[in-house]
Amino acid sequence: MADAHHNGPILIAGGRVIDPANGRDGAFDVLIADGLVKAVDRSIPADGLDQTARVIDASGLVVSPGFIDIHVHLREPGYEYKETIATGAEAAARGGFTTICAMPNTDPAIDNAAVVDYIANRAAGAPARVRAIGCVTKGRKGRELADMEELITAGVVAFSDDGDPVYDAGLMRLALTYSRDLGVPISNHCEDHELCPGGVMSEGWVSSRLGLAGIPAVAEEAMVARDISLTELTGGRLHLAHLSTAGSVAMVRQAKERGIAVTAEVCPHHLMLTEAWALGGKGDPNVAAGPMAYDTHTKVYPPLRSNADVAACVAGLADGTIDCVATDHAPHERVSKECTYHEAAFGISVLETALGTLMSTVHSGSISLPTLVERLTTGPARVMGNGFAQYASLTPGTPADLVLFDPDAGWTVDVNKFASMGRNTPLDGVTLRGRVGATVVGGRIVFEEPTVLNKGDVA
Ligand code: NCD
Repeated sequence: MADAHHNGPILIAGGRVIDPANGRDGAFDVLIADGLVKAVDRSIPADGLDQTARVIDASGLVVSPGFIDIHVHLREPGYEYKETIATGAEAAARGGFTTICAMPNTDPAIDNAAVVDYIANRAAGAPARVRAIGCVTKGRKGRELADMEELITAGVVAFSDDGDPVYDAGLMRLALTYSRDLGVPISNHCEDHELCPGGVMSEGWVSSRLGLAGIPAVAEEAMVARDISLTELTGGRLHLAHLSTAGSVAMVRQAKERGIAVTAEVCPHHLMLTEAWALGGKGDPNVAAGPMAYDTHTKVYPPLRSNADVAACVAGLADGTIDCVATDHAPHERVSKECTYHEAAFGISVLETALGTLMSTVHSGSISLPTLVERLTTGPARVMGNGFAQYASLTPGTPADLVLFDPDAGWTVDVNKFASMGRNTPLDGVTLRGRVGATVVGGRIVFEEPTVLNKGDVA
C-alpha cells in the first residue's frame, strides 16, 4: 500500500501540526523534499512545486514527527518464528513509529559487534530506522559485563539485559559508572525474582480469584529504589524500562526533585489495561471468570496492575515524571499463548495498537494531545541523546520522519491484519480511537491507510 515509487517532493497540506521540539501546534503545511523537511509554513502553495510533487490533504489529521520507540523486541537473530526485523519494522511503520530500538534478548544476544552489524544489515531498506541496544552483561547472563566499548563502536544506542534485570548490584554500579563516559543510558528491567517466584500476574484480588501466583509491586519497586541509589552514587545514566506501579512513579518523581538524572518509560498497555483483563472479560470486572478467563494474551512483564497503578502511570506521563512512552513490543508465536496461564510466554504485540491505546488517555482528558506527542517524539529522543533529536522534530533541514494520524477515527483491532508476526494482544476485537493515516521515513512514504488518509487526497 505504501507509495514506494514516489520519491519526489511531498506537500502535506491543511493538517494540525504538532511539533513539540519547536513548540508548534496549529494549522501548518509541511513540505518535504530530498528526504528532508524543507519548510513548515502557514500556507505553502502547490503551484510552485515541480510536477512530480505529491500533495496530501491532511485536513482533520495531526501531522507530527514520527514516533520513536526505544524498547521493542524484534526477535532476530534466533527467534524468527516470532518476528523478523522486516516484519517488526513493517509493524512499526503501521503504528507511526519511524525509529525503533531493538532489545538484545535475541539468540545470539546482542553482546558483540558482529551481532550489531548483522542487525544493521538486515535492517537496511526497512520501513523504519532500526537501532540496536547492546547487552549490559555477556550473553545477558548477569555474570560479567559485556565489552561495552566494542558495542558502542559498533553503534549500539543504549545497554540493557531486558527480559531480565541486571541483578548483581555491583555490576549495575559498574555499568552505570561506564554509562557516564560512554554517553548512553542503561535501561533496566526492574524485577526482584526472589519477591515473585513463579509469579505470572499482578499480586492482588484477581490473582487470588484465579489462583495464579502473583508478582507484587515491590518486586519492581525494590530494584527501582536500588537503581536510583546507584545512580546518585555514580552519576550514571539510568533509564527505567516499562514502569508499572504507583510506587515506582512516586520514587522517580522524588528522585527528579532531588536532581538525580534518571529517566523512565511506560508502555501503552500499562496506561489503559488493568489486572482485571486477565479475567477474560476485556477489563469488565463484573464478568465472571468464564470461558475466556485466564486470557493468556494479558500475560506480560511487568504485569497489568490495579486501577490506582494505571492512574499513577497516566499522571506520571502527564506531568513528565515519566519521560516517554515505549511499547515493549513483544511478539510471540501462537502456541506460546495457546496453553495455561502458567505456561504462556510473557509479552504483548504492541506496535500496531499503541496509538489507539494511548489516545484513550487523551480522550479521557488525562493527557493533552501535544503532551502525548511529546512523550512519543522529543521525550524518547532526550532519553537517548546521541543524535536522536534530528528524528524528533519538523525543523527544516532535518530528516523527514513524520506521522499523519486521525486522533478520533474509531477502528476495531483485528490481529489477522497485523504486519507483525506476533498476534498476541488482548485487544483483538476491541474498538480503539486514533489511527495512523501515513508514515514517512526519510521523505519516503512507508505506510499509508487510504481510509484514514483522505477523503480529499489529490495525489
Ligand atoms: C519480553 C519479551 O518477550 O522479550 N516480554 C515481556 O513480557 N515484556 C521480555 C520481558 O521484558 O520480560
